[in-house]
Amino acid sequence: MMQASYERQTGNMDRRNFLKLTGVTAAGGALSMSCQSKPEKLPSIDSSLPDKEFWKTVQDQFVLDPDQVYMNIGTTGAMPQRVLDNFNRYNHVIARHPTGFMDELGWEFGIPGQREKLGKQFGCNLDEISISRNTTDALNTVLFGLPFEKGDEILLTHHEHVSALSPLDVLKDRLGVVLTEVEIPVVDLENPDQVVEAFKKKIADRTRAMVFSHIPYKTGVRLPAKTLCGLARENGLISIVDGAHCPGMIELDFHDMGCDFYAASGHKWQCGPGATGILYVRNHGDDLPELWPQNSCLYSMIAQPVANDRSRIEDISGLFVLRGQENYPALQALIDACDLWEEIGRDRIEIYDCSLSSYLKKRIHTVFGDSAVLFSPDIPEFTSGLTSFNPFQDTGDRKKIEGFVERLAKEGYVIRFTELRLHVEDPKPTFALRISTHLFHDRARVDGLVEAMHVLYRDML
Ligand SMILES: Cc1ncc(COP(=O)(O)O)c(C=O)c1O
Repeated sequence: MMQASYERQTGNMDRRNFLKLTGVTAAGGALSMSCQSKPEKLPSIDSSLPDKEFWKTVQDQFVLDPDQVYMNIGTTGAMPQRVLDNFNRYNHVIARHPTGFMDELGWEFGIPGQREKLGKQFGCNLDEISISRNTTDALNTVLFGLPFEKGDEILLTHHEHVSALSPLDVLKDRLGVVLTEVEIPVVDLENPDQVVEAFKKKIADRTRAMVFSHIPYKTGVRLPAKTLCGLARENGLISIVDGAHCPGMIELDFHDMGCDFYAASGHKWQCGPGATGILYVRNHGDDLPELWPQNSCLYSMIAQPVANDRSRIEDISGLFVLRGQENYPALQALIDACDLWEEIGRDRIEIYDCSLSSYLKKRIHTVFGDSAVLFSPDIPEFTSGLTSFNPFQDTGDRKKIEGFVERLAKEGYVIRFTELRLHVEDPKPTFALRISTHLFHDRARVDGLVEAMHVLYRDML
């Protein structure tokens, strides 16, 4: 029925019924169509268990190869057993009843309920959140949807991912937008104010927007997102946050953060299926930035009646909800993963991930000594689940670090390396080993990793 209804939406449904069905009317209207999906009841996680048993129960939820320690969640995560089982079940039901699967799954139209849930979990309203394919997709939606003009300046850190750089470069070549890199301190980073000051210094008359990663993938340092968004607001700038690594790793509250746009992955630390992500678009308060849909399916239903006037569009995120036929099992599996995270406790996961990362940094320091360069300092406000360092004297030796990662994988530890510039003007790149520590790891695995890395390091000196 869900798929059949999509055909009807674009075909012969009148506008009012269509909006009701898709849940893209004002939040109040949408709630009446909330998601009725009934995932299989799986054993719940007993939060009253002592810490060690509790995390063992959590770790038992994953089907990761026991002969390997997977520490590259920063690239992509792994679905827990119960999410995977339900995902498979949804696919199976759809394969059996391609257009009648909703009856069997007990689904109404999933999307409004899913968005309401996501909104509650990430500190915003239903009308401010939609499910994207991934961070790249969400960033493209925002960057190509804003009405930039020739000469407008966008500030970005010198550690952004290609997912932001690529659409930004298109804006530069196509419209004549000016891109200005802000150098954020790396090895001498001690205080969040250094990052804020670096941005502040670059704000000029034609600056229109600030783009930054909440956790840049190269170093894993957590940037002061709330203060940076505040700085943007104070200066009338649009804040666009690449939060690829944040859902599922740290607690998020978009209203509290005060960002205009937040693009994030559902398939990384949140451990949803591939090609899932979220997009937050601020829809309350003053100065809502004009945003045009680039990948449009619902424009005439939502924005056209009011000439895309932001002050009169009730559900801006509804514009990005449907992109034609959807991968409904994936959307629901992302929600299932989010529900599991709520059960475990997002605050508990953040503390767990960050303490493991802090423990890893201490172990690296003890075992490799002062000569190993840590690109993510062991300072609580900067700590995330990503840790990056280089143990070798020549931190610009790409072959060595590449070989290290390959050989470490043969020892059963999967990590990755990243390439970065310490300073904007650096003529040559620096390389770092990047390790992700998440809820399916523990100190014993971290100890095993550090030991394996040290053996390898000595062998490669
Ligand atoms: C900071 C950052 N932004 C964006 C991306 C792209 O994420 P996705 O694959 O979800 O588009 C990544 C992927 O590693 C990333 O690290």
